[in-house]
Amino acid sequence: GCYCEEDIEKILFDREAIERRVREMGRQITEDYRECAQCQGGEGKPRLLVVSVLRGAAIFMGDLVREINLPLEMDYMAVSSYGASAKSSGVVRILKDISSQIEGRHVLVAEDVLDSGLTLKYLLHVLESRNPASIQVATLLRKANPRQADVECAYVGFECPDDFIVGYGLDYAEHYRNLPYIGILKPEIYQGK
Ligand code: PRP
Ligand code: MN
Ligand code: MG
Repeated sequence: GCYCEEDIEKILFDREAIERRVREMGRQITEDYRECAQCQGGEGKPRLLVVSVLRGAAIFMGDLVREINLPLEMDYMAVSSYGASAKSSGVVRILKDISSQIEGRHVLVAEDVLDSGLTLKYLLHVLESRNPASIQVATLLRKANPRQADVECAYVGFECPDDFIVGYGLDYAEHYRNLPYIGILKPEIYQGK
């Protein structure tokens, strides 16, 4: 492949559609958190903490927080990226933890895509054990994966087909994250690899 638009079979969500949807999500979050985000957390920090999961969600999170009109802190986690074959194992390892305290704070986890749901299921379990005031998920995409773990998402950008999708943060072998749109990768790019 050329790692560019030629490798894309079909564009699912173009730049404008993503922009519009992320703006709506940000407005909704602003409304929902308006009251609880006003009071301060510990040490004068914002009460609202937006956590994203490296690396795929970094682009979505960057755009989303700019549509949330409230004081907030940004933090990042990195988890072990398992290969396709290990995806169903449910074994997720924390490579980098958030540096902020979350006890008593309102945590919003920003993810790019919910596929098997195992990444989020595990993260929510870990973060919940630290006693946040609340915890919710904003995912840009939720795949129609019939074997998806049961994960409650307060904010879902788009439902999408169970295809190999890339762009706007989503990768194949670390390529395509910088495409400004989300599209289906041509099967010949990943078949036989
Ligand atoms: C991808 C994606 C989600 C996760 C979703 O991350 O960004 O974090 O998989 O899959 P799941 O619902 O089946 O757990 P990946 O592990 O590929 O790492 P990356 O974000 O660095 O691409
Ligand atoms: Mn990811
Ligand atoms: Mg990936």
